Amino acid sequence: MKPKPIVFACRECGDTFTKWAGKCPSCGTWDSLTEFKEAAVSASVTARGLGALSAEAGKAVSLREVPSAQVERIHSGMPELDRVLGGGVVPGSLVLIGGDPGIGKSTLLLQMAVLLAAGSVKTLYITGEESLQQLKLRAARLQTPGSDLLVAAETDLGEVFRLAGENRPQILIIDSIQTVYKPDLAASPGSVNQLREATLALMVHAKTTGCAVFLVGHVTKEGMLAGPRVLEHMVDTVIYFEGERHHAYRILRAVKNRFGATNEIGVFEMGSMGLRAVENPSEAFVQNRGERAAGSAITCCLEGTRPLLLEVQALVGRTNFAMPQRVCMGFDQKRLVLLLAILEKSAGLEIGPQDVFVNLAGGFRVDEPAIDLAVAAAVAGNHLSKKMRPQTLVLGELGLNGEVRAVPQLESRLKEAQRLGFKAAVIPETQKGKLRLPNFELLPVPNVGMAFDQLFTA
Ligand code: TYD
Ligand code: MG
Repeated sequence: MKPKPIVFACRECGDTFTKWAGKCPSCGTWDSLTEFKEAAVSASVTARGLGALSAEAGKAVSLREVPSAQVERIHSGMPELDRVLGGGVVPGSLVLIGGDPGIGKSTLLLQMAVLLAAGSVKTLYITGEESLQQLKLRAARLQTPGSDLLVAAETDLGEVFRLAGENRPQILIIDSIQTVYKPDLAASPGSVNQLREATLALMVHAKTTGCAVFLVGHVTKEGMLAGPRVLEHMVDTVIYFEGERHHAYRILRAVKNRFGATNEIGVFEMGSMGLRAVENPSEAFVQNRGERAAGSAITCCLEGTRPLLLEVQALVGRTNFAMPQRVCMGFDQKRLVLLLAILEKSAGLEIGPQDVFVNLAGGFRVDEPAIDLAVAAAVAGNHLSKKMRPQTLVLGELGLNGEVRAVPQLESRLKEAQRLGFKAAVIPETQKGKLRLPNFELLPVPNVGMAFDQLFTA
C-alpha cells in the first residue's frame, strides 16, 4: 500500500494542503499550518456515511415506498429565528451559528433557550466560554433570571453527553464548538481534528436521539466560520449572525438550510434588554420618506422572500490624495468603481478626480445588483447637488453601456414601497408591461441618462 501523503491544515481557516507554507494560501495567516492527522474514529463513521445511522441501511427501496415523515417543528418563541430556520427547529437537526465576537450569538441562544424552557421544551445550555455566574448575569440583563433552563459549564464532550443522557433535552446548545473537546484525542481544543470529531459526535447524537443541537462557531478575520469547511458540510443548517458593531441592527441569515430556504433573514435590534425582533425592518431602515437630501436614494433589496427598503447615501468631494478614494460601507467597492465608470461614459459625469463615499444606512450589507441604479443616482445627485424626486423608489441593475436591466421580483419590491407610502418608482423599461399596481406611478427607463431625467428634473 502506498503511504498516505502528509497533509497540512490551517489553524485559522481549516483548509488543508499537500505542501507546507509559512503563510496559509487560503486565508493568508502566517505560521498557521500544522500537520494534519486524520483521526481514526471519524474515518470509520464517515466511511460508512450518515445513512448508516438509519434503520433502512443496507438496502435500496423505491422512493415511493419511503414513508413521508411528518416533522413536528418546535417553535423557538422567536418568530424571526423560526423564519430563518425554515419555520421552526427540526428535531434531530444540527444548526451552526457563526458570527463575529460580541455580535450577540450567546445572547440570541440564551434568549431562545429561556423561551423554549418557558414553553416546556426541555433545553440544555452548555457554556464552555463563560462561567455559570456570567450566564446568570446575562440572564438578569435579559430579565429572565429565574428559568427552568438547564445550564452547565463544561468543555469535556464526554461529560456533555453524560449530561444529555441524564437529562434527555430536546434542544442542546453548545457555546461554542471551538471550546469543547474529546479527551481521547491528542489534538488540542479548537484544532481541526477536534472540531471535526466533536461535530461528528454531536451529529451522531442529534440523529440518533432526535435532539436538536445548536452549535456556536467562531469566525475568522475574513468572516468565514473558523475550522474546516467540513463543519459546514456536516451540519444541516448554517446561520450567520451579522451586523456592524456600532449599529443596533443585527441580521440573522441562513446560508445553508436542509429544512428551508436559504437567504431568509431575521432582523433584530440589540438593546439594553437583549435582542428584540424588528417586525418592520423597512420602516426601521428608511426613516425619512419625504424629500431627500442631494445624494440620497431609496431602493429595495430582496433578502430571501422578504423585500427590504434601504437608503443609499453618497458623498462626492474634492480629493486631497493623489489617488481619489472610493470608500463603501455595505456595498461592494469594485462594483462602485464599475458604476462610476458607467456614470462617466454613459451619463457624462466627471467624477474621476473626486473622492466618493457610499453608505447603506443602518449598517446593512447588500450584494444585489438590483440596487445599482440607486447607488448611481445617489452619487450623481450629490455630485450635481440635485435633490431627487420625493417619495420615489429607484430600482434597476446597470449594464456596462448604461442600460437599465431587469431586477427579479420587481412587483413584491414595489408593493413593499407602496405599503410604506411611496408614490412612484423608476424601474427598468423592459419590465413595465407586467405590472399591475393601482395608485402607483411607474417611471420606466431604458438607460441611466433617462433615469436621471426622471429623478432630477421633476
Ligand atoms: P454576546 O452574546 O456575548 O456575543 P457573542 O456570543 O456573539 O460573542 O453579545 C455581547 C454583546 O451584546 C456585548 O457587547 C453586550 C451586548 N449586549 C447588549 O447590548 N444588551 C444585552 O442585553 C446583552 C445581554 C448584551
Ligand atoms: Mg458568546
